Amino acid sequence: MTIDGRLSTGPGVSSQVLFGFYGDELSRWFHQRRAESDLIMVGAGTVRVDNPQLTVRHVDGPSPVRVVPTISGDLPTEATIFTDGLPTILIVPEALPEQTIRSLTANRPAVQVLRAGESRVDFDKTFAMLAGLGYSTLMVEGGSRLLAELFAADLIDRLIVKHIPIVTGSRDAPTFLSAAGSFPLSRWNLARCNSIGGVAVTEYSKAGV
Ligand SMILES: NC(=O)c1ccc[n+]([C@@H]2O[C@H](COP(=O)([O-])OP(=O)(O)OC[C@H]3O[C@@H](n4cnc5c(N)ncnc54)[C@H](OP(=O)(O)O)[C@@H]3O)[C@@H](O)[C@H]2O)c1
Repeated sequence: MTIDGRLSTGPGVSSQVLFGFYGDELSRWFHQRRAESDLIMVGAGTVRVDNPQLTVRHVDGPSPVRVVPTISGDLPTEATIFTDGLPTILIVPEALPEQTIRSLTANRPAVQVLRAGESRVDFDKTFAMLAGLGYSTLMVEGGSRLLAELFAADLIDRLIVKHIPIVTGSRDAPTFLSAAGSFPLSRWNLARCNSIGGVAVTEYSKAGV
């Protein structure tokens, strides 16, 4: 996030513009983190705005399997996560019509769908199902609403913040967290603080974990 706590420079603007404010050293560092994770998750909003690849490219190592929760199923069928042939798991609620799912998965054997929750995605169930498939580590890369849901449900045990050294001054750019309702206070312990390629990277662990 930026110094003023934003995940991009404006509403609807891809967070990939932030890449221009840091260099290869930080890219290598966080791609190494990706390579160490079994799974990587972003919300459907991030797929719509950023069209990310979510692969490991700046270091040698395996790409994590992509996981995208969506309630609406409103995702661009030409998004890279559907067309590059690498594995993607969509997490959808029971209420999502089969036809919507078919429109995203037809002729795409690398795209798998799991149902968790009735009308919303239930993340406790999601994580239990993913663990049942043999996955044990999951890294979430945003965006604001997904992070807020996971913090509120107390499902995050480690936090890494890259403080991109810019101030957007934007009133409407997505914030680090965007919670729909009240939000429980949670206490975090500073585990590490490094400067990587001129960017402060802070790591926190959940107090008591
Ligand atoms: N700087 C960074 O590192 C970084 C990283 C990622 C994203 N971003 C930025 O963040 C912005 C996107 O954030 P966002 O908040 O709009 O979207 P988001 O958090 O990426 O995705 C929210 C979507 O996730 C889906 N979802 C599924 N189950 C959910 C649940 N139980 N609760 C909440 N959401 C659930 C919903 O999709 P449906 O609407 O399909 O139902 C919801 O609209 C973009 O501007 C992107 O550039 C920045």
